[in-house]
Amino acid sequence: MVMDAVHPRVLADLGRALSLELTAVQQYMTQASLLGFWGDEASAERFREETVEEMQHAERIVQHMLSLGVAPAASQLQPVRHAPDLLGLLEQNTELEEQLIHHYDQAARFCGLVGDQPNGDFFRSLLEDEQHHGRELEAWLQELGGRRRRGYARYGSGRRGALSQRATF
Ligand SMILES: [Fe+2]
Ligand SMILES: [Fe+2]
Repeated sequence: MVMDAVHPRVLADLGRALSLELTAVQQYMTQASLLGFWGDEASAERFREETVEEMQHAERIVQHMLSLGVAPAASQLQPVRHAPDLLGLLEQNTELEEQLIHHYDQAARFCGLVGDQPNGDFFRSLLEDEQHHGRELEAWLQELGGRRRRGYARYGSGRRGALSQRATF
């Protein structure tokens, strides 16, 4: 079978997808350990399961890129986002999932525009997984009482002193 040339933007979108999935692996793996330090083994276990799911997404992207004849090259991982408690971690993680959902949605739409159905289907399948994951995180957040009004998006250098006392890193 002769394969049509893949649009460079589709290849770039695959590379960014890999970076985002590996960012999620690093973030959920780190947070699982953090929860372990806090003595919340049950939540740590759930975060470990999420880490494995994100690793499987990364592997699917690597395999897909290889099948297209391109070398996987994730560019930059985002730093791990942290918070002083489980609710804050979940708030951070829903933001990362939203980034993934947005990325896959845009990537699938672009494939539609250039008539690339196989890659469009690939991105849509990952989109569905992340939408499902996003809903699970949202349900967990609701079990804990929902988002705080101000959230943790602005945790940063200004509060590092207070944060490090509780977050252990
Ligand atoms: Fe993922
Ligand atoms: Fe996810």
